[in-house]
Amino acid sequence: MMYAARNTEQILQTLRCGGEVEDEDFDAYLPPGPRLASRQYWTPVAVASLAAQWLSRAGARHVLDVGSGCGKLCVVGAIVSELAFVGLEHRLNLVRIARKLAHRFGVDDRATFRHGALVDVPFEEFDALYFYNPFGENVFAEAEHLDTNVALTPERFQDDIRLMEAVLERMPVGSRIVSYHGFGGRIPDAYELTCSERARTGTLRLWTKMRRQAQGCYWVERENTAAFRDAQDQEALSAARRPVDAIKDNVGVLAEKYVYPSQ
Ligand SMILES: C[S@@+](CC[C@H](N)C(=O)[O-])C[C@H]1O[C@@H](n2cnc3c(N)ncnc32)[C@H](O)[C@@H]1O
Repeated sequence: MMYAARNTEQILQTLRCGGEVEDEDFDAYLPPGPRLASRQYWTPVAVASLAAQWLSRAGARHVLDVGSGCGKLCVVGAIVSELAFVGLEHRLNLVRIARKLAHRFGVDDRATFRHGALVDVPFEEFDALYFYNPFGENVFAEAEHLDTNVALTPERFQDDIRLMEAVLERMPVGSRIVSYHGFGGRIPDAYELTCSERARTGTLRLWTKMRRQAQGCYWVERENTAAFRDAQDQEALSAARRPVDAIKDNVGVLAEKYVYPSQ
């Protein structure tokens, strides 16, 4: 059932009762620029709710949104669950907007935001990470960049992806990753895909770390939606390499497994 949610109290009540809130009703609490960018860059309300439900059910407690934008994922997640969210964002203007949004919805105790880069993050504080294809913008055409406030380059894409891949390898067994439109890099096969759902413009996936170390392979997520292009591992896509396994649903391929190249 769709409610005509308008003021913050109505939105809070609707979400907490498991009802649906239109993105345009929620986005009305964003300034005009981020509101316009919403469809391409921010997690839809329904998808953020689902991600928070999966993570709560999986027993997660502290979630880091890697690249939190205007805070939509963290704020909706904090409204619909008991989870604590931290958003990391390299655009200071978006950090400020996110803090205001969390305050507006009364969840600023469990949806907090840090301005900074990946190297500043104590990843060991988190048992779950969320990625809405955060590094993809580095390899998009300039016309599709959110703004010109940060330097975006293919080299930065590689650096950020490699840093995150190393973090995924270090995280303890039981850690969770949720991706929307893909994480963009290699997920060690110590992780298994435990939930997936085609949701609005992309695919939401929950990965759970089952083993301490990868068994020589990694997963690459596949998207067959056009709305937000993939920033996939070019190495894995090259003609010379073939997947050794794949996970499919009734729509298409969700992830392909590759052997790590020998050094
Ligand atoms: C596609 S948006 C997703 C925003 C938010 N997670 C959501 O789901 O609504 C990706 C965000 O990641 C941020 N970002 C990208 N690379 C980053 C980095 N290395 N460090 C911090 N933030 C980053 C971008 O500025 C952008 O706001």
